[in-house]
Amino acid sequence: MRLGFLASHNGSNMQAIIDACRAGRLAASPVVVISNNADSGALQRARNEGIPCYHLSGRTHPDPEDLDREIVDVLLKHDVNLTLLAGYMKKVGPVTLATFPGHVLNIHPGLLPDYGGPGMYGRRVHEAVLAAGARTTGATVHVVDAIYDNGPVLAVRETAVQKSDTVETLARRVLALEHALYTETISRIICGEIRLS
Ligand code: GRF
Repeated sequence: MRLGFLASHNGSNMQAIIDACRAGRLAASPVVVISNNADSGALQRARNEGIPCYHLSGRTHPDPEDLDREIVDVLLKHDVNLTLLAGYMKKVGPVTLATFPGHVLNIHPGLLPDYGGPGMYGRRVHEAVLAAGARTTGATVHVVDAIYDNGPVLAVRETAVQKSDTVETLARRVLALEHALYTETISRIICGEIRLS
């Protein structure tokens, strides 16, 4: 399994998966990292790990279709067979989705379909969870389609919301869940327990 990553910021989920590959806990190789943010932690992590990395964005490719095609070219060049969004803040283009049908995954810091969709990212998710008085929150891994946070759910992990929770405590706890869940989900895909279409 050759993994490609699309990430915009810190890349801690990506790092957790890379660590699992390096430690032999995941029978996969992280082969390329693409970021729309030239200064992202994700690109820095890729450099530290010696993984080929690319800054591809509206700056490098002002035409969205060109950008989409370039992303596909890079993923194909590195023989990627599973693309993982790891805090990627852009919509995945139609050419990418058509080239890797059912093989682009995302992780969301909430229990989809609740608290998802446009504008629902980062601390906004945890704010909404607290404002709604939700009893549980968690993380969701899903297949990416043309609509934000919409594709089939592959795996979820829940945590109870405590009365004492703040956005910060939830963010920390859910992120830790994400790191484990994303890695485990890929492992279940590799061993055939989860089948991608
Ligand atoms: C995570 O909470 C993920 O669910 C969301 O963006 C965040 C990325 O965090 N899509 P990191 O960059 O992996 O640290």
